Amino acid sequence: MNIVRLDKYVSHSTGLSRSEVKKLLLCGQITVNGSVIKSGDMKISESDSVLCRGKLCIYKKNVYYMLNKPQGYISATEDGLHKTVNELFPEEISKRVFPSGRLDIDTEGLLIMTDDGELVHRLTSPSHGVKKVYYAKLEGIVRAEHADIFSAGIPLGDFTAKPALLDILSIDDKAGTSEVRITVTEGKFHQVKRMAEYIGCKVTYLKREKIGSLCLDEALEPGEYRELTEQETDILKKE
Ligand code: URA
Repeated sequence: MNIVRLDKYVSHSTGLSRSEVKKLLLCGQITVNGSVIKSGDMKISESDSVLCRGKLCIYKKNVYYMLNKPQGYISATEDGLHKTVNELFPEEISKRVFPSGRLDIDTEGLLIMTDDGELVHRLTSPSHGVKKVYYAKLEGIVRAEHADIFSAGIPLGDFTAKPALLDILSIDDKAGTSEVRITVTEGKFHQVKRMAEYIGCKVTYLKREKIGSLCLDEALEPGEYRELTEQETDILKKE
């Protein structure tokens, strides 16, 4: 950890705003190495022991959560019209994190919520080519030759999609539906839906299962989240 101002240290480790921290400082509620400190600009390093209202503060430079995004929520921090993924978190987390990339309002699945802009850039920038794996239910029958079309790169009008992987999971000839797994390395607007349309199919259900080597935790119901483990965070940072 680098040297950090006391007010930032307490704010980051408790989720309290800087002004709330300032009030606690003035009330003598914050101690550093056993001494009451009233000024937020004191410099704190790893070896210092900071207590806020008697509780030890553990500083995290960044926070990382995995959310199983439910349908009906948009991938934004705030919106005048729709519910946002940030609303699924308590205020102290919500005010800190933002979604890494976008899933459509009707798409479910793995969404990383963090305050680490550098990681978000790595995961979402097409130049890094991080793989995103989607499970999709389609109206329409997918055939083996469609996989070649996906791997050749589909022209979608405003851009040509980079080569993608199409795995056929099941076909229901009678119902005229298919289940597939699609792996892409970019995340343009409605990309998977548009790629499916290109082969004459309509996505009726879409769920992101994986980003790079990180899989959605199957124990998370739509709308639930958990903090990434240190190991998972390290995996993502190496993508
Ligand atoms: N592709 C889509 O079409 N929608 C998503 O939400 C994600 C990828």
